[in-house]
Amino acid sequence: EHIDWDAEAAEKGGYDSYMMKEIYEQPNALTNTLIGRLHDDTGEVNLDINLDPKSFKRISIIACGTAFYAGMVGEYLIEQLARIPVDIDVASEYRYRDPLVSENTLAIVMSQSGETIDTLEALREAKKFGAKTLGIINAKGSSMTREVDDTLYIHAGPEIGVASTKAYTSMVSAMLMLALWLGRARGTLAEAEGRELLHAARELPRLVEESLTPERIENVKRIAAKYADAKDFLFLGRGVNSPTAYEGALKLKEISYIHAEAYAAGEMKHGPIALIDENMPVVVVATESKLLEKTISNVQEVRARKGKVIAILTDGDTENARHADDVIYVPRTHEMVSPVVNAVAMQLLAIFIADKLGKDVDKPRNLAKAVTVE
Ligand code: G6P
Repeated sequence: EHIDWDAEAAEKGGYDSYMMKEIYEQPNALTNTLIGRLHDDTGEVNLDINLDPKSFKRISIIACGTAFYAGMVGEYLIEQLARIPVDIDVASEYRYRDPLVSENTLAIVMSQSGETIDTLEALREAKKFGAKTLGIINAKGSSMTREVDDTLYIHAGPEIGVASTKAYTSMVSAMLMLALWLGRARGTLAEAEGRELLHAARELPRLVEESLTPERIENVKRIAAKYADAKDFLFLGRGVNSPTAYEGALKLKEISYIHAEAYAAGEMKHGPIALIDENMPVVVVATESKLLEKTISNVQEVRARKGKVIAILTDGDTENARHADDVIYVPRTHEMVSPVVNAVAMQLLAIFIADKLGKDVDKPRNLAKAVTVE
């Protein structure tokens, strides 16, 4: 018994939970995702994928849970940078919806474990209709990796915490590289923009490390303690960061059991705004973006109804801090890569709220790390 306990404590490397350890492992995990694949000197992306990037007319992304939200970021990035139509499904829907698939379709399955049964069956469905298949997967040699045409491993290292953290940020980074690769190969991404994004991607490990400094951690802890008694949360984001809002709400639900919903910010006026009152904290991703002004006007709508606003803002944005009750500042980066940096703020908020409520974040009730039954 005693030995087991020591072994587990040692595995957690001094952190209270695997989840916390994995949050802190992200700079390393991201380095491993990116390493050897992005070449600053030539501007090239080398993913070692044995598929012809020019042969696809359409891409289908298929995943479950957190991987699905990473896929939503991917949908946005691929359409923006490579101008290929992308659709995305949760695997449990895809496998039964008689999807439109041809030999010109690339089906991308995303999975930390590579074992989720719905995703595996959806992959088989896509193959049956002739799609080419690519896995964006963490677990080496897992079932999906044996059935896809090729795998883009994310190399995040083993993830033990049930709530996914480092696998999410590594999957989003893998998607970014894939979008860059497709965009360059298909001629839809100008060389200068490609280089700028490539450079921004290479900065990610450092920016995530900077997101985890003691001062930033203390700030999120303080905010978490302030709002931990709320019964409901709303999360808002726009564009490439609307999935960040979805993922933030999912993290909070999974480990704190607080009801949380997420919306694309512009959709708030079509219903969810009816929920807003002084008891409803609203977490808004409002980092630098072409749409920032619109996001801020959504924030003003929340405040006009006495909602409490927790804003995720870019370092130095004191101007927009005026519209928020509390601010989580994050390091400045390119909008297209910001979902990685912003996700870390979401993870911290969720884990500190769960901690404050005394929840065991590594063993959330009713959840399993990999769901291998339908
Ligand atoms: C389970 C886990 C989630 C995970 C999802 C997909 O529901 O609790 O954290 O996102 O499965 O897992 P996968 O291994 O396919 O990424």
